[in-house]
Parts: sequence; C-alpha cells; structure tokens
Amino acid sequence: MRPEEIIDLRSDTVTLPTEEMLDAIRRAEIGDDVFREDPTVNRLEKIAAEKMGKEAALLVTSGTQANLVSLLSNANRGELVILESESHIYWYEVGGISAIAELLPWPIKSSLGALAPEDVEASIRPKNIHFPRSSLICLENTHNRHGGTIVTPNQIKAVSEVAQKHGLKLYLDGARIFNAAVALNADVKEFTKHVDNLMFCLSKGLCCPVGSLLVGTDAFIEKSRKMRKILGGGMRQAGIIAAPGIVALESMVNRLEEDHRNARRLAEGIAKIGGIQIDLSRVQTNMVCFDVSDMGITADLFTSKLKQKGVSALALAKNKVRMVTHRGIEKEHIEKSISAVESVSHELS
Ligand SMILES: Cc1ncc(COP(=O)(O)O)c(C=O)c1O
Repeated sequence: MRPEEIIDLRSDTVTLPTEEMLDAIRRAEIGDDVFREDPTVNRLEKIAAEKMGKEAALLVTSGTQANLVSLLSNANRGELVILESESHIYWYEVGGISAIAELLPWPIKSSLGALAPEDVEASIRPKNIHFPRSSLICLENTHNRHGGTIVTPNQIKAVSEVAQKHGLKLYLDGARIFNAAVALNADVKEFTKHVDNLMFCLSKGLCCPVGSLLVGTDAFIEKSRKMRKILGGGMRQAGIIAAPGIVALESMVNRLEEDHRNARRLAEGIAKIGGIQIDLSRVQTNMVCFDVSDMGITADLFTSKLKQKGVSALALAKNKVRMVTHRGIEKEHIEKSISAVESVSHELS
C-alpha cells in the first residue's frame, strides 16, 4: 500500500496546509520579528489576543514551547505547580517542567480531565518553612490523554475561584480549545475569561504547518517574549508562519464540527465490533480512544495489524488505541476505518 493511500488517524497534527494558507504564505509581508518588525506576526498576535479576550499574544514554535515559556513566566524556580496527572505537560514534554523550569509538579487525578476544586485546594501547600510556595495551576482543554474531553467553562470557573482565593495563577494548555468551544457551541472567551493566561495551537485541527500562541496580559507576554528568546525561540521572518495562522483563525475554526461528527460516527461504528471496549461518553470532540484487551492483543500489535489494512492509529498505552479525525478525513474514510477494525477483530476471534 502506498503511503498516500493510508488513512492516517494518529493525530490531527498530520494535517497539511490548505491552498489558501499556501497562497497566504507566498504573499505574506515579512520583517524581523525579534525587532518586532514582522507585520504579519504582529497582526496574528493582535487577532489572537482579541479572540481570546486578553491584552496580548506571542507566536511560539510549538505547543510544548508555549507550555514551557508559560511555566517560566508564571512561576519561579523551586515553586509548586498543580496539574492534572495525565496532562500533556506532565507526560509528554520531556520533563521540561523540572529539567528546565526547575519547578515541582504536583499531579492530581481528575474526572475526564476536569480537576475537582476541592482536590486543587487540598494540594495547595500552606505557608510553612518546609513547603515550597504554590504558585500555579495548569488545566488542559480539550484533554488529550482522556480522549479529547472537554473541561466546561463552569469547571474552569470553579478552579479559578480556588486560585484567586489562594493567590495562585491559573494557566490553560488550550492546544485544542477551539474544539471545546465548537463542541459546546460557545464563544472561546467563555473558557478563557476564567484563566490568567493560556496557549492554543495552530498546528493541530486548524491545519497550520507550525505554530502556537501564548495569550495573556501585556506584562505576561512581555516576560514570555524574553523567555522565548532564552529558549532559542525568537524567530526572524516568522510572517510565513503567521500568515497561515491568520487564515486558520478566520476560516478553519467552524469546520472542526465536521471532525467531531466524524469522530462520533467512527466511535459508534467501532463500539459494535466484538473485542472493543469503548466509553462513548468520552467521545466529545475529535478523538476516539478504545481498549483492545478483550482481543487478547496489545495496542502495538493491534495498530500494526490495522496498518496492514490501510489505517494508521496510535497505541496510547498497553491496550489503549487512539484515533483522531481531522481535515482530509471524510465520511468514506470513516466507513473504511470501521471495516478495517472489524476485519482485525474477525482475524483474531
Ligand atoms: C494538550 C496538548 N498540549 C500541548 C501539546 C504540544 O504541542 P506540540 O506538539 O506543538 O509541541 C499537545 C500536542 O499534541 C497537546 O495535545
């Protein structure tokens, strides 16, 4: 099978830029962004800040860089950061929170990614000679390892009240915050108004080739600009990255709904297949996670058998498989993917 024939459901990061984005890249007005002279970057940052209801924004290279910059800007060395125990920052960012930001991560369990305010409050260390200062709470929305689940505006608000009461900052890893907003048919500001600052990614369901934005107060962004520089993330003619970002914010958000519909169709199809365990209540946006233990194989083996049938999925844990819908995945691909899973299941039974 040729690579272009594979239905790639590993992640929404495999999306390619649209023709409109490629045109925008060619036409972009550019300058040196370290000197703040790239008009396209400046425009993207302004649009991003307005959309999120914050004072300012900063274009960075990736979601991981955005999270690391925010940790460096929001907290000081040795301080305690409360985060969800399966959060991207804790699991997938090479331990940068400790290795580079020199912070103490304090992971707490949640229900589908939404931290219970009482658990957050119980984790805040009181003022005492023995304890580090607790300075930051991090949320994630949608929650990746929980399967693209949504943390609702009310759930964020409840945590923000605890943060305010104890003088902690509240940060949101909103890599896929537009998926949450579109799924709840809510303005993205409904989520962002409760946090001090956040990041979101252009390079996932929004289809840009690269880039994420940090958003917050003028002071936070000014400090973050310096932190981005120290990490080697100051870019020069970054307008060629920003140009597709503007297209994404202006025209790619609403189509996420289509990805959500396809994910639901995929999940419901897969749920009928023997040997698959899937919790449909977790399928809230563009991710479909399921367990293959009943087939008596590991997720690695399952995904390699599936690939032979033309579908690429991700082994998330020993028995857990993830599929993600995105632009380029149409209804017909969903039907083919369900048939491929069915065929692997038949082979094994
Ligand atoms: C919730 C979340 N945060 C951060 C990131 C990191 O983004 P990047 O891959 O651009 O570093 C990801 C990537 O999948 C993510 O899912």
